[in-house]
Amino acid sequence: MQAKKPSESRTTMTDMVLPSETNPLNNLFGGELLARMDRAASIAARRHSRRITVTASVNHVAFNQSVPVGSVLTVEAAVSRAFKTSMEVYIDVWMEDRFSGERSKANEAIYTFVAVDETGKPTEVPELTPETDLEKERFEAALRRKQLSLVLAGKMKPSEATELRALFIDDPS
Ligand SMILES: CC(C)(COP(=O)(O)OP(=O)(O)OC[C@H]1O[C@@H](n2cnc3c(N)ncnc32)[C@H](O)[C@@H]1OP(=O)(O)O)[C@@H](O)C(=O)NCCC(=O)NCCS
Repeated sequence: MQAKKPSESRTTMTDMVLPSETNPLNNLFGGELLARMDRAASIAARRHSRRITVTASVNHVAFNQSVPVGSVLTVEAAVSRAFKTSMEVYIDVWMEDRFSGERSKANEAIYTFVAVDETGKPTEVPELTPETDLEKERFEAALRRKQLSLVLAGKMKPSEATELRALFIDDPS
């Protein structure tokens, strides 16, 4: 399978925040943002793998800024690393100022998707080759995040999480 670049999976979804999607403070409801991010990330994972993809885990979400009703929100998702059957997708959320049109970062999240066949069995995906400095940075840290996610899900023993151990344990040599 030929390796792909993050730009080949980049998915951009722009939409307005409607009153029915807000909480009692008239800011975007967190679950609605999670759904928008899941949709964009799912399309990115599908573009990378050209397979059916399912959300395996939500590894990180930062609700850094509230998003008022009427805001124009852009969700940008791209595969940040591909493993054997799973893909990490990094999502950046931008809010557009109503008057100046300037974009500011509202939120970000990291989801993991798995490519599956018609029976739901995990299936291999192409490798990812990062290009920009940011893509390389996200690629490098992705294995650490995968191990953390697997440990938290009870699917990996902490002693097997080599990348995480390296963060905390000094090399004796
Ligand atoms: C996601 C799913 C296919 C994984 O199945 P599984 O039996 O755990 O499969 P495997 O153990 O072979 O894991 C497949 C890949 O997922 C990765 N994975 C599984 N759970 C993970 C987690 N919590 N975090 C990160 N990666 C995970 C594995 O590391 C493996 O990656 P790799 O092949 O790239 O190394 C399965 O759990 C599933 O179908 N879940 C439901 C998905 C769904 O319906 N999502 C929508 C929820 S509403």
